[in-house]
Amino acid sequence: MILRAGPAHAAAMAAIHIRAFAPDIGPEASEGVTWGKPWGEAAFAVQLGLPGALGLIDPAGGLLLARLVAEEAEVLTLAVAPEARRLGLGRALLQWAMVEAVQAGAKRIVLEVAATNAPARALYTGAGFREVGRRRAYYADRSDALVLAAALPGAG
Ligand SMILES: CC(C)(COP(=O)(O)OP(=O)(O)OC[C@H]1O[C@@H](n2cnc3c(N)ncnc32)[C@H](O)[C@@H]1OP(=O)(O)O)[C@@H](O)C(=O)NCCC(=O)NCCS
Repeated sequence: MILRAGPAHAAAMAAIHIRAFAPDIGPEASEGVTWGKPWGEAAFAVQLGLPGALGLIDPAGGLLLARLVAEEAEVLTLAVAPEARRLGLGRALLQWAMVEAVQAGAKRIVLEVAATNAPARALYTGAGFREVGRRRAYYADRSDALVLAAALPGAG
């Protein structure tokens, strides 16, 4: 069940994020994946309190954080805990965020993903995202970041 998340959900979101990004280790390291780091509770609390913040959480183990600015929505992070993957949760969170973005007047949704992150790239391609830019050697492991965008329904 997807719920809107506010600053009060920061601890729960950080707990999911570390499971998704560094399942075997503590918050001081991030060897779980090489192109991203888990965000701590304080980081979520700050982001969720900013104007335009859109936080979504599924207590089963998924979260999405986006920011809506003018006519553009940006997905800042999307994470599903390992035990909750391949059940459609990531897709549902993304679809929910896209609906909320449309309702808030956004025309486009953008995000960054590591070129080496095949699961996330497949999810985004299936949701209609296309590559609009590339940041070379962007992540700590020197992998490129792809900038992906999708037009939202109602965009001219
Ligand atoms: C990427 C991530 C959010 C996907 O979450 P999920 O809940 O497992 O995704 P879903 O079950 O909704 O899958 C939706 C579609 O994405 C694609 N997909 C998801 N995981 C995949 C995988 N491991 N391999 C290939 N395709 C995959 C498939 O097309 C899938 O549809 P299908 O199951 O009908 O084939 C999750 O793997 C994750 O948290 N990864 C670590 C953090 C991360 O990469 N975040 C995104 C950073 S930009």
